[in-house]
Amino acid sequence: MSAVRSQQDKYFSKMTLLSGMVGSGKTYAIREIIKKKISTNKTYIIQHTNDFGSLCEELKGNLIVVNNVVEINMFGFYPSHFKAGDYYAYLFDCHCKELFVFLKLLLERDMGDVEKVQLMSAILEMYESVGITRKRFKPNYKSVSMHLCFSTFCEVLKEHSENLYEEFKTYSHLIIEDKNLSNYFEKKNRGLDLKNNLNLIYTNGMYTLAALYSYVVAIKRKMRIEPEPTLLVVDEGFLFLRDEHLLETLILNSGASSSQTELLISVQSLTDLSGNLDEILNAANKVILFKQDKNDIPILEDRLKLPKNIVNQTQLLLTGEAVVIENEHLYPIKYS
Ligand SMILES: Nc1ncnc2c1ncn2[C@@H]1O[C@H](COP(=O)(O)OP(=O)(O)O)[C@@H](O)[C@H]1O
Ligand SMILES: [Mg+2]
Repeated sequence: MSAVRSQQDKYFSKMTLLSGMVGSGKTYAIREIIKKKISTNKTYIIQHTNDFGSLCEELKGNLIVVNNVVEINMFGFYPSHFKAGDYYAYLFDCHCKELFVFLKLLLERDMGDVEKVQLMSAILEMYESVGITRKRFKPNYKSVSMHLCFSTFCEVLKEHSENLYEEFKTYSHLIIEDKNLSNYFEKKNRGLDLKNNLNLIYTNGMYTLAALYSYVVAIKRKMRIEPEPTLLVVDEGFLFLRDEHLLETLILNSGASSSQTELLISVQSLTDLSGNLDEILNAANKVILFKQDKNDIPILEDRLKLPKNIVNQTQLLLTGEAVVIENEHLYPIKYS
């Protein structure tokens, strides 16, 4: 993870973490922040409850609807005109890692180290079988996307682990084989103006974590060919941050981009971040604390080293009120 901390490789130039109980005012504050920044930023919002629909309408943004994981072929790999070289290898590594995390999330259980190796080996072998390696992109087929699919993956996986194969097969109904992301965006969202300053990605998929993650990947892929967002908003972002590899993947993967993106992410409780807490607090350059969950008191005291009177204050904040921690300074704020 050292690269996450190196400024050079850091994708998100700024990361703001908003934390507060349900109803404490996070979503309202995020709307205010977006409105302030809209004229100078290309903004992407990921939502899974319809909290930003009217803002999107008001600001004449694009509404991009993705209903389920089946709508994105996570196996497709499109390195644009890069066919070999360092940058190509980087894109390939990123892609394999994205796919790995996606498949891991799909399983909805912890994987052992041996299984992780088997999974990654199967991914690499699947690409190799169609002529795509870390060294070069030289597909054996004219339309390779037809062969980059769940069934090819399962065939290869079977050689590595019969158990994983059996388990993954039960997910095949979720994956549509021949859809790729560009088709998806072209057909389903015909008429979208990608120069638009505000893009709202809306999901009501049932496989939430994997689905939401696949949207992030989808957006990031889109970003590689379209003007990139400068502001990425993930309300209720705890869904993304529970997996140990997710944050790493999110941040590292996107390092390929030339300009940097500001990330705004909200959580209901710092405790939810569990194993990722330190990573996230290290990555965040601003933390906005709305009314805090009682369970978070130990984290506020021990990890954020807040004075006791401030910790007590965070329990008493009214809706829309918050305490900001930025550059080792503390100050109150009220969104209105
Ligand atoms: N600063 C504010 N001024 C006025 N109303 C607010 C403010 N912040 C939140 N609210 C209202 O309080 C309710 C909960 O706020 P919300 O932002 O949805 O909370 P959260 O996202 O933290 O669950 C909403 O009805 C919202 O309109
Ligand atoms: Mg909210």
